Amino acid sequence: MCGIVGYIGYEQASPHLLRGLEKLEYRGYDSAGICVYDGKILDVFKSKGKLKILSEMIHGGADVKGTVGIGHTRWATHGEPSDINSHPHLSGSGKFAVVHNGIIENYIKLKEHLMRRGVKFFSETDTEVVAQLLEYYYNGNIIDTVIKVMSKVHGSYALGIICIDNPDQIIAVRKESPLIIGLGKNENYIASDIPAILAKTRDIYRLENDEIAILTRSDVRIINTDKEEIKKEIQHINWDISAAEKGGYEHFMFKEIMEQPKAFRDTINPRIRGDRVVLDDEINLTPEQLKNFSKICIVACGSAYHVGVVAKYIFEQTLRIPVEVDIASEFRYRNPIIDKKTLVIVISQSGETADTLAALRESKKCGSYIISIVNVVGSAIANESNDAIYTWAGPEIAVATTKAYSTQLAVVYLLALYFGDILGTISTMDYNKYLSELRLIPDKIEQILENKENIQYFASQQFDNKDIFFIGRNLDYALSLEGSLKLKEISYIHSEAYAAGELKHGTISLIEKGTLVVALATQEDLFDKMISNIVEVRTRGAVVLGLTCEESTEIEKCTDFTFYIPKTCDLMLPSLAVIPLQLFAYYVASLKGCDIDKPRNLAKSVTVE
Ligand code: AGP
Repeated sequence: MCGIVGYIGYEQASPHLLRGLEKLEYRGYDSAGICVYDGKILDVFKSKGKLKILSEMIHGGADVKGTVGIGHTRWATHGEPSDINSHPHLSGSGKFAVVHNGIIENYIKLKEHLMRRGVKFFSETDTEVVAQLLEYYYNGNIIDTVIKVMSKVHGSYALGIICIDNPDQIIAVRKESPLIIGLGKNENYIASDIPAILAKTRDIYRLENDEIAILTRSDVRIINTDKEEIKKEIQHINWDISAAEKGGYEHFMFKEIMEQPKAFRDTINPRIRGDRVVLDDEINLTPEQLKNFSKICIVACGSAYHVGVVAKYIFEQTLRIPVEVDIASEFRYRNPIIDKKTLVIVISQSGETADTLAALRESKKCGSYIISIVNVVGSAIANESNDAIYTWAGPEIAVATTKAYSTQLAVVYLLALYFGDILGTISTMDYNKYLSELRLIPDKIEQILENKENIQYFASQQFDNKDIFFIGRNLDYALSLEGSLKLKEISYIHSEAYAAGELKHGTISLIEKGTLVVALATQEDLFDKMISNIVEVRTRGAVVLGLTCEESTEIEKCTDFTFYIPKTCDLMLPSLAVIPLQLFAYYVASLKGCDIDKPRNLAKSVTVE
């Protein structure tokens, strides 16, 4: 996703802007730029390519004078990556400079309207329309003008705006796309995300939809579109800086894989008191409401959706309530059959994913109760849910999620135990068994990470594959979805997850000599079935990486390589089996020299449709 920064203070703005953009590189981008008011004009410097190119162009900012500026890393949506399409965009006379994250959905109509009135455009972007509209409607009052433009544009936008007539102000606006205000001493900041300002301040405002922030060096005012002042709570960010740094690891992704034992502990420990799971102060849902639900709908995107597929098996097993799982971008447009007797669980690391947020709102309109599982405190999805349960994974910087996936699973186990206890669908014996196994998961993840070199070795033999299949049954099938996505998104190798029992209904025709198949066979009661499926693909020439529990060594009679994970209860095996899959994807991508933390075409948080 695009990244926005802004600085207003008494120091040179450009180094602040470049440093802030550097901390937002993880969001994915293809061009970068800054605009600084140099006392006379709004000076714009921007270029296609990595931030390094821009920084070299302006000698690290040394040449750019001025103490007010905005900056941007662009993830192209409208208009190819190019210098001219990069942000910031100026209005025709250079009076306004704008940076934008989101999509102006009616930009073509607005652009045609302006062009008919003689406005000349320079780029193919939707963002330039905002800059030109500001100038077109400008009546000398920048706030009135911004509100007028907001009434004209449809879509999603986080905007940073500077006007040459008001050079001691930055205006920030939010509609769907996240935007925060960093509160400093005699200086203030705007940013798309916390890492951009964490080195300068830990006190922030999170803008909500249709809020306008007016920043000067000494203060920040926030108003709504009726120009009423809004009192905001300051949110103090207590991350340690290293949490948003690599900490000596080569990649954020590897650091975050290694952080999973701690993230898992941090997520479950505050919720286990004595021998009970306690969620009372996070869940307002009453036992009567819970007992009244006729089904659960889980809605998410990407890896969060894969957690939902695992959760379906877990909730149906423990709660005996029908569970539907849906991709948010499908759910929101299929007129879902949900009502007040439906519990909708929304899962999102960022808490800002546009499709997931839209699915949440659709569910609310149908009267459903919404519980969200989110990693970012105060994010839109958390704020709009009936109950938000946070994963305490800490900031996840790598585009490919790992610790957020694991901690989302941890919350699923907590919910299964908590609800199962209320519904009486889990026996005391099973409850105690699950809880004691849950407590041991972080140690067992550590055990797996201690053997990571075995996966690294296998990856070194297999990293030049063109097609890789992941197969499994039941929870192993649910997990194979995540194994396949992890590999695809960072190594760019085509991969497919398949229900092992379904292969023979067509896809097995793709298996030929040398095809790599990763066979997940952790579920004890389906182990023999999986052996048959492994033999099926092996006899057709496949190379098989088996993934199973310790002691299940008979799998070796039909695999080329086997990775063992410690045993635990079947329901919690995904939390262990996912670790070698994450490592496999990481090592393959690393051997291929891919940009692991910032894979091509991807963004950390997809805040547009
Ligand atoms: C996962 O590795 C991907 N980065 C992506 O699929 C991600 O899970 C998806 O975009 C959902 O993001 P969210 O959890 O922030 O909603």
